[in-house]
Amino acid sequence: MCLWTQPAAVVCASMTPLPISAFAPGRVNLIGEHTDYNRGLCLPFAVELGVTVTVERRAGGEIAAAGLPGDDPYLRGAIAELRAAGVEVPGCALEVSSDLPQGAGLASSAALCLALVLALRAAAGADRLAPVELATLCSRIENEHAGAETGLLDQLAALLGQAGQALRLDMWTLEAQPVELDLRGHELAVLGSGAPRALAASGYNERRAECRHAAELLGVESLREASDPSGLPDPLDRRARHVISENVRVDEAVAALKDGRMATLGELLDASHASLRDNYEVSVPEVERAVDACREAGALGARIMGGGFGGSVVALFPPDRALPESAIRVHAGAGARLLC
Ligand code: GLA
Repeated sequence: MCLWTQPAAVVCASMTPLPISAFAPGRVNLIGEHTDYNRGLCLPFAVELGVTVTVERRAGGEIAAAGLPGDDPYLRGAIAELRAAGVEVPGCALEVSSDLPQGAGLASSAALCLALVLALRAAAGADRLAPVELATLCSRIENEHAGAETGLLDQLAALLGQAGQALRLDMWTLEAQPVELDLRGHELAVLGSGAPRALAASGYNERRAECRHAAELLGVESLREASDPSGLPDPLDRRARHVISENVRVDEAVAALKDGRMATLGELLDASHASLRDNYEVSVPEVERAVDACREAGALGARIMGGGFGGSVVALFPPDRALPESAIRVHAGAGARLLC
């Protein structure tokens, strides 16, 4: 599937009678962390939980939203980015609801942006957009209006998810390949670390800058093209080593899933975590405790998920295993769509 083709899930936009509802799910990234902005590989899936936005047109130009603070940066950003893209958002009343836990590392902000944009575009009768264009527009809302520099992982996972499937995203060729998420009775769960994510934005942006610098020193456009980081100064060599090895782990995880080798999948999660902790340095003590809690509960593997500096861990559990308290079971669900 090429990310420049139009998604079937959102085709009914301009023909939809009002009111319109749009749903966008959260995501879990099974493996392939801090690779998206290095044109690398990721293996996310959309979860069944998400954000729903219902929009009803109103006379006059006012846009009122229930379920969001009046000055919500995502709503302001969505309207501004749609206007900049030539979509005149009509006066309307919006209602936002969510069953996605906030701050649990399931990319609730990306889901909110996507649901807002899909609903508002539909209300405006705007044409369809290809997944990459839609994902890029939504990531601009987060980057420029909410101050979080992110890649396209969360948006593409939420947009292209399919029930029972993960997606192998190649951020260089911009291709998405569905990978059956057959866990042979095992379960994936997410456990919040409870760590305040105070350093998250600055730490994330610093890692992005380090990767750009490492690529520059290696004379390549992105770390996807790098293979030997040994000549780089510390810590750039370790940052690049993480990215290079993580891309390899994504394809090893795809192969393990295809062959039903769950123990190998668990080992890959552990190896990803070790690299994120030691090479990429995005873990914190609370996250280490959450990883330990998963392992003590019998997980075959566990790793920090998402941007890091707090947030959640994802872990693979054998069948019928009691999960650590407050862990959430996650299943692959369908991607963002208009509910028409
Ligand atoms: C955050 C960003 C994503 C991605 C991950 C790290 O979730 O939103 O774009 O960079 O961190 O893999």
